[in-house]
Amino acid sequence: MRETLRVGFVGTGGIARGQHIPAWNALPGAEIVAIADIDPDAAAKGAALAGVEEQHLYDDYEKMLEAEELDVVDVCTPNCVHMPPTVAALEAGCHVFVEKPVAISADQVRQMIAARDKSQKLLCVTQNMRYSDEAIAAKRFVDAGGIGDIYWGRAEYLRARGVPAWGAFIDAEKSAGGPCYDIGVHVLDLTLHFMNFPEPVSVSANTWLEIANKPSVMAHDPRKYTVPEELAAGFIRFENGSCISLAASWALNATGNNNNISVFGNLGGVQMWPFTLVTEQHGMMLNCTPQVIGNKGLGGHAEEIRRFVAAIHGRGPVPVPPEQTLITQRILDGIYKSGQEGAEVKV
Ligand SMILES: NC(=O)c1ccc[n+]([C@@H]2O[C@H](COP(=O)([O-])OP(=O)(O)OC[C@H]3O[C@@H](n4cnc5c(N)ncnc54)[C@H](O)[C@@H]3O)[C@@H](O)[C@H]2O)c1
Repeated sequence: MRETLRVGFVGTGGIARGQHIPAWNALPGAEIVAIADIDPDAAAKGAALAGVEEQHLYDDYEKMLEAEELDVVDVCTPNCVHMPPTVAALEAGCHVFVEKPVAISADQVRQMIAARDKSQKLLCVTQNMRYSDEAIAAKRFVDAGGIGDIYWGRAEYLRARGVPAWGAFIDAEKSAGGPCYDIGVHVLDLTLHFMNFPEPVSVSANTWLEIANKPSVMAHDPRKYTVPEELAAGFIRFENGSCISLAASWALNATGNNNNISVFGNLGGVQMWPFTLVTEQHGMMLNCTPQVIGNKGLGGHAEEIRRFVAAIHGRGPVPVPPEQTLITQRILDGIYKSGQEGAEVKV
């Protein structure tokens, strides 16, 4: 394997330029050498940031995969365009780092895993929330048995007024889903990560689109809102008896935003934002605010990309393997299905 990994991008919009490109730029042993984006302006902006020359810009990722010798492809396209370039890049012999939500159906994730297995390359999904220093510390505490066996998780990412005004988020043809795919997937993933991805059994959920199209809510963005929901809420049961309640909104008549992950075990609990640990010791409830000091990581995307590169070099596991995000995607599929059927569904 080459000492310096040659990285190609598919999609250099908001998240690629805001997080991925700076993270790859700062990483020794990797160089961004090519970009494919259907929007020439986004490609040019990505190229300026990554130092990619014009002759290595493409309007079609197939052409890029054909013409360039790449080791890694980073996929930062809208949700509906995650699976096709991921499979194509794996078939071209590249390792792939793909943004969340991994895809728009469990069947797509299975196709991605099959392509990964055939290629013998690595596939990693961006779930950057796992890689804040606090989330890493909380996971360490949970894995060491600090809160015992977890039986209930709460995963909430509620925005009172926060319909995204950029990118493809509100366009169903490109994103397929709304806050459930955008922010629900983050809190669901982190909660499942703390719970070590138990096998899901059923989902009872609903989705709502009640206020997002009101001019007052959409004042910042005159585009039509076509994704199926502004709020999704549900209850998920797992084979081991544990459960998660999940809620995600872009628009809700609430006093403000409320982001919260809590996992509760028979020896204690962990809450994120603010990071708090609760344990029962010597007949007392001890609520403590941990200080995360020393051993700091790069944080979020940069830390996950660093770990992915280490995995490519055989120095650790793939940080977010698609087998885990397949579980997440089965639950997300279940949320929409349950909402449509008005009943609990098996996943
Ligand atoms: N992890 C996070 O914190 C986070 C934050 C924001 C977005 N995201 C995810 O990243 C993805 C992209 O979001 P964004 O905000 O960057 O959107 P964006 O619209 O700003 O960028 C997407 C880019 O993909 C390009 N594109 C679309 N179809 C393409 C194709 N067929 N081939 C090549 N390029 C194509 C677009 O032209 C655009 O430049 C989404 O899936 C989103 O869920 C993750």
